[in-house]
Amino acid sequence: MTATEPAEKLLSPVLSASWDDHRPWSLETYRRHDGYQGLRNALEMEPDALIALVKESGLRGRGGAGFPTGMKWQFIPQNDGKPHYLVVNADESEPGTCKDIPLLFANPHALIEGMVIASYAIRCDHAFIYLRGETVPVLRRLHAAVAEAYAAGFLGKDILGSGIDLDITVHAGAGAYICGEETALLDSLEGRRGQPRLRPPFPAIAGLYACPTVVNNVESIASVPPILVRGKEWFTSLGTEKSPGFTLYSLSGHVTNPGQYEAPLGVTLRQLLDISGGVRAGHQLKFWTPGGSSTPMFTDEHLDVPLDYEGVGAAGSMLGTKALQVFDETTCVVRAVTRWTEFYAHESCGKCTPCREGTYWLVQLLQRIEAGEGVEGDLEKLLDIADNINGKSFCALGDGAASPIVSSLQHFRAEYEQHLAERRCPFDPAAATVWA
Ligand code: NAI
Repeated sequence: MTATEPAEKLLSPVLSASWDDHRPWSLETYRRHDGYQGLRNALEMEPDALIALVKESGLRGRGGAGFPTGMKWQFIPQNDGKPHYLVVNADESEPGTCKDIPLLFANPHALIEGMVIASYAIRCDHAFIYLRGETVPVLRRLHAAVAEAYAAGFLGKDILGSGIDLDITVHAGAGAYICGEETALLDSLEGRRGQPRLRPPFPAIAGLYACPTVVNNVESIASVPPILVRGKEWFTSLGTEKSPGFTLYSLSGHVTNPGQYEAPLGVTLRQLLDISGGVRAGHQLKFWTPGGSSTPMFTDEHLDVPLDYEGVGAAGSMLGTKALQVFDETTCVVRAVTRWTEFYAHESCGKCTPCREGTYWLVQLLQRIEAGEGVEGDLEKLLDIADNINGKSFCALGDGAASPIVSSLQHFRAEYEQHLAERRCPFDPAAATVWA
């Protein structure tokens, strides 16, 4: 795929193919789109062959880190006499990230089918969905879809006469960002306060109830059935060599048509803007995030960076959750970074000192700079605190909080200095529609 390919060729609706259909969330509509055919194909294979297929497809985790899905499944020890669990992380909360919730709302059976396949592969008979608690309509839809799947014989005892059993429990979290961190999620699911555990051991060895557990993102699991139906060669023909397949990009902010765009990995923001109508009329791109606010920010210099785990990584960011938040020239970068940092400080679980204290101090400094009350040395202090958080926190929340500080100062130091020199925000808040 190249930057010159026609825009329409870039769209590859798979997970979103049925979203415009009548009642796309129903089992009836899902079955019209090859629904549960992937499961039938999977049940004809041995579990180890299934894991090998997912490994060979090159599918990488869509929750942010891009860890190879098949390899994660393979880590589950066999014949260990312990129960194995599959836990789907549906606690999507990263600022700007909004792909799993729409996917679950429109197409819950894609997840359920993927869960049955994954559970068969890792020899698990009880799987869990940990859903972001605020999304009550999605919770209702998931409950309804799970009930439909039981009634149709895709869940429960002796699934499709295969001798395989699987129960799914849908659990709603209580709205804490930290519970999206996989080990905090497991603590929360066990009924404890959600705080991250020390890794290793990774959940694959000691996860839910100290048993081997695969924790996968919604989109990762929902991507498995199409691979079973269309084959790994089809999957690897999309995307790039090291980041194959299709994915959901969430475009938001100062764009003409925000929304979900399903395209192969490796497309660029320039291509996605071409498809979607571009930055809002009369304005220019100022900065953007490749994967939510915890990924280092990019500018217009990065419009042609391939959105895959290598391309974005080589350019100094992380692909993360593919939440492409776009900001035009009306946005005050100090203001945007302050809002994000307030979020991280509020959501810090308090377990480790660098994150708990550091995010608090970052907010104090940013708020006074934004208000025109910053003093000389504040920018060095910001960088010093970010340095004391980065890599020194218990989990990735701290690193995520530090990253927009460092990258915004790298790209927009002059704008911070302008706040200090003029002792006010140089932007008209009324013009910044998204952040007003
Ligand atoms: P990580 O890279 O530490 O781990 C990724 C996955 O691979 C985990 O499931 C982990 O258990 C597994 N893993 C890694 N090394 C392993 C090993 N040696 N043995 C067995 N399993 C292993 O990343 P982490 O901290 O789990 O997640 C960070 C990511 O989360 C970031 O990239 C960020 O973009 C994303 N994120 C997503 C959010 C959302 O709302 N979707 C919210 C916040 C962050």
